[in-house]
Amino acid sequence: MEPMLAEERIVVASPLATGEGGGLAEDVLDGLTRPFKELPPKHLYDARGAELFDRICEQPEYYPTRTERAILEARSGDIAALTGAAELVELGSGTAAKTRILLRALDDAGTLRRYVPFDVTEGMVRDVAADLVRVHPDLLVHGIVGDFERHLGDLPPRLDAGHGRIVAFLGGTIGNFIPGSRRRFLRRLANALEGDDVLLLGTDLVKEPCVIEAAYDDAAGITAAFNRNVLHVVNRELGADFDPDAFEHVAFFDREREWIEMRLRAERRMDVRVDALDLDVSFAAREELRTEISAKFTFERLEGDLAAAGLELLEVLTDPDELFALSLSRPRE
Ligand code: AVJ
Repeated sequence: MEPMLAEERIVVASPLATGEGGGLAEDVLDGLTRPFKELPPKHLYDARGAELFDRICEQPEYYPTRTERAILEARSGDIAALTGAAELVELGSGTAAKTRILLRALDDAGTLRRYVPFDVTEGMVRDVAADLVRVHPDLLVHGIVGDFERHLGDLPPRLDAGHGRIVAFLGGTIGNFIPGSRRRFLRRLANALEGDDVLLLGTDLVKEPCVIEAAYDDAAGITAAFNRNVLHVVNRELGADFDPDAFEHVAFFDREREWIEMRLRAERRMDVRVDALDLDVSFAAREELRTEISAKFTFERLEGDLAAAGLELLEVLTDPDELFALSLSRPRE
């Protein structure tokens, strides 16, 4: 058979393009009129936010990315052998920097056939697809431009019933969900698994609070800029007049709930207008707006959350300092 040209091996589906948009207006209206103001973290990632996040990953204080990468480098061969997967589905694939390690291992094991990157940013999905079909001459790519909280139903069916897939959710992003939603989302992922499919989940682990807090408040100020960027997004997209520089970046580890919170604290009393919503919002001096929670896990919590979602833990892979964990799980019989 003629080998397929690179472009012929790429399909990109865009459930977002036909849908209702990113939900920013609804989230701002809801979040800024609450007694405790809050915005969901997904709006941090416009083009500039995504770029700032990539820079966060290179900061010496931000240990999760390099630790997860090291675990993948050490254990991708084992993951490939254990799963024999023909497909890798990745939620929030971004630039797929770490995923390439796993794709290489699956290719070396001779089982890899298709990669399914799933991301809200169309350019990211297309660039990653174009690059990976070049690196892997037989690889098929089925990209999905969508929001994995709303468009999981757009995953393509498995290529063939005999070969399993890995659904990867890396980086610790599962920590952005509050506990109840986290279990609900894990259950939906579990329901998307068939046969011998597995979930590969990255979770940041509980550790010394000062280590965690430093990771979310780097000395170079990149995380602070990333946090304030959400106000630039609201200004641009909804015609608001936030003064982002009048908000202080706050990151603290909630020891009881074992999650880190990012907040923006108003330096002074402020009135903000959001034109597109015909909304006026006032901030008291030192009032805080919560922009992200990022839960940290113990092995017990990880196992408990997976079990509550109907998933059975197969393997937990961690680094020597137990900073971060990658787990493999599958639906319980
Ligand atoms: C991309 C959600 C995994 O929670 O550590 C980095 C985002 N926020 N620094 C995380 C983030 C502040 C990151 N995740």
